[in-house]
This record gives sequence, structure tokens and C-alpha cells, in this order.
Amino acid sequence: MDATDQHEDLNAVIRQHSEWLATQLHVQRESLFPPDAKKEMRKFTSGEAAALLGVNDSYLRKLHLDGKGPSPELTPGNRRIYSAQDIQELRVLLEKTARRPGDYLPGRREGDHLQIIGVMNFKGGSGKTTTSAHLAQRLALKGYRVLAIDLDPQASLTALHGVQPELDLQEGGTLYDAIRYDSPAPISTVIRKTYIPNLDLIPGNLELMEFEHETPRALAQGNAGLFFFRVKEALAQVDPDYDVVVIDCPPQLGFLTMSALSAATGVLVTIHPEMLDVMSMSQFLRMTADLMDVIAESGADMSHDWMRYLLTRYEPADGPQNRVVAFLRSMYGDKVLNAPMLKSTAISDAGLTKQTLYEVERSAFTRSTYDRAIESLNAVNDEIAELIQKTWGRR
Ligand SMILES: Nc1ncnc2c1ncn2[C@@H]1O[C@H](COP(=O)(O)OP(=O)(O)O)[C@@H](O)[C@H]1O
Ligand SMILES: [Mg+2]
Repeated sequence: MDATDQHEDLNAVIRQHSEWLATQLHVQRESLFPPDAKKEMRKFTSGEAAALLGVNDSYLRKLHLDGKGPSPELTPGNRRIYSAQDIQELRVLLEKTARRPGDYLPGRREGDHLQIIGVMNFKGGSGKTTTSAHLAQRLALKGYRVLAIDLDPQASLTALHGVQPELDLQEGGTLYDAIRYDSPAPISTVIRKTYIPNLDLIPGNLELMEFEHETPRALAQGNAGLFFFRVKEALAQVDPDYDVVVIDCPPQLGFLTMSALSAATGVLVTIHPEMLDVMSMSQFLRMTADLMDVIAESGADMSHDWMRYLLTRYEPADGPQNRVVAFLRSMYGDKVLNAPMLKSTAISDAGLTKQTLYEVERSAFTRSTYDRAIESLNAVNDEIAELIQKTWGRR
């Protein structure tokens, strides 16, 4: 057998395996998530609604009895349950009589700039998509106007939000349309509403790779302009419509990630606390710094409001992980978020049915498992919300 035969063999095997995998994945998806299924946000118990709004349940109950605000649905057991839309309507109602402005609608006020958060690390599996999805959803449920952008051609964030990258986006529809060099479309044409109030999405798919291919070509032809500002410029078109933009970056330091980095006002580097991951992060940081130097040399302002490391898939009982965590905390101090995102089967199981933990019912899990995971996610996201508020000069 000569080398050519071997090459052909490998080709055939890989092709065959790819076809098997595609078929099996399709079968699985059809059973877990039928193509015509529309995603819906679950309803919230009165306790959960009260916690999201930051009021007492008894106060919510009083509003209901007084006939103020939306009428929650009543369960057969006469419990009140609220939709995300009900909660948003309650926010608007409560804000009208709030003691301080922004008590219930925490978003931008006059003079506050749009927060653009890039979630990055070139290590796949470091929790970028999980972090982006839970952050975007939590902020939306808390009353911020959020735009989530899937900048990863693998499109996991897109799939999580019920858009099928290969089926629903055949005529374009990703951010690439708005940042391409030849006749870019207005960014508004690629923004979709989601099933969660306050949360819009720009989906992704393989077409985003075009930006990686086209940028060197445009640079060579001298018509790329300041290519790294294309995301920022596209976002400027919808600046007044949002409080926070969350960008789920691809797992490499290409032109897409560079553009996200140049647009970002806040940078979140996800890091799974294991030695191999930390070693590759060292390269990531050095390459990022080199790239930012290059961009800054062209006169661009590369200052950010904040940058933080987030520990992901953290297992507190794991000795080696704890040593890595201690090492990172001693080196980077308060640049490491206090709250880690704990590893939890509740989070990975929810992911299997293309849901975040905010979308699944608590009853689907052992209570302690669910509570531990959701408390960890809320702590992470609320710490980030605090950074946002601080940037706007509030506590
Ligand atoms: N906190 C967590 N607990 C358990 N599984 C997690 C957690 N965070 C992420 N995962 C799982 O790890 C895998 C990789 O996470 P993902 O967010 O997709 O990483 P990335 O976007 O960086 O590639 C996914 O299958 C996800 O469900
Ligand atoms: Mg991802």
C-alpha cells in the first residue's frame, strides 16, 4: 500500500464517520428537540419572581390582590406563577413608584455608555458559551436590555436559543452580514427577538468564517479600513436600544475575536482551573497583548472598563484544582471574580436539551443539585452586574 492509498482510505473513513455522526445527531435532535418546537421560557414561582424583582413575596401578593399589574396564572393548588413577561411588566410598574430611579429597571440612564462584554479564551470547553448564555439570560430577567451575539462559527449559543444554525440560517443572518467588506447590511437585519423578554440574539454559523478569510484579502487590497472596528461600528447602529451586549467569542484569536476585543468595554476570560488550561491561557494572554499592541499602534483606543477572570467548571473538592485556584488568586488578586462557576450535572444536563439552567424546571433535578448550581450562576452573574453598575458610577 503506498501513501496515496492510505490517504484515500483515511478520506473515506473520515467521510463515512462524518455521515454516520450527522445522521445520528439528526435522529437525536429530532427526538430531543423537534424542528418545529418553539422554545419557551418556563414560568416562575411567586418566590422566584419576587427574588428577581427584589421585593417580598407578600408585596407581590398584595399587588395581585389589589389588581395591580399583570395577573399571574394560578396553579390548581392556587399558587401564583409568573411569566417572564409578567415580571417585566411588574418591573415597569414598580419603577414608577420606586424610591430611587433604577431600583427596578437597572439599565442605562442618560450619559451611561453601552456595555459590551466579550467572553473569551482560545481554549474550547473553557465554558465561554455556558457563561455567555447564563449571563445574557440572567441580565435580561433582571431587567437589562440585552443583545447576545454568537461570534463562534460552531454556533452553540445559537442552538441554545432554539435557532438551528444549519437550517434556520440558509440565507445568511449572522453578524457576518453586518461586518462584511462588500455591501454590509444594517445590523438590525440580523437581530432576532428571543422567547425571553429583553433578550435579542444575533445568531452565528459557519458563515462567520468568511470574515477570517476575507479580512487578509481586504487588507491586501487596502480596503479593510480599521477592520478591527467593524463589530464596534456595527453595534453603534443599535447603541440606544440596549444596555448590555454579550459576545460569545470563537475559541481562537482570529480576526473575529480581535474585532470583539476592540469593541468590548468589559472582557471576561473564562478559565477552567486545571494546569493544562492555565498553561494554554498563558499563551492566550501573551498573544492577546501582542495583538492589542498592534491595534493600539494604529491609534485605536484599547482601554477597557474592566477585565476579569472567571473560574469555570470548578470542583471545590478537587485538590489539584484548588491549588490552581489559589495560584491564580494570589497572582491576579481581585481580577479573578470572587464567585466561581461550579461544575454541576444540572448545567451539563440542561445543555443536553439545549437549555440553560434558567430555563429548566427545578423539579427536573434533585433540589440540592439545582440550588447549588443556580446559586453559583447567580453569584457569578450578579458580580458582573455589579461591575456594570460601577462603570455607570452606581453601586
Ligand atoms: N459549570 C458547568 N458544569 C457542568 N458542565 C459544564 C459547566 N460549564 C460548561 N459545561 C459543559 O462543558 C462543555 C463545554 O462548555 P462550553 O460552555 O460549551 O465551553 P466553550 O464555549 O468555551 O467551548 C459543555 O458541554 C457544557 O455543557
Ligand atoms: Mg462555545
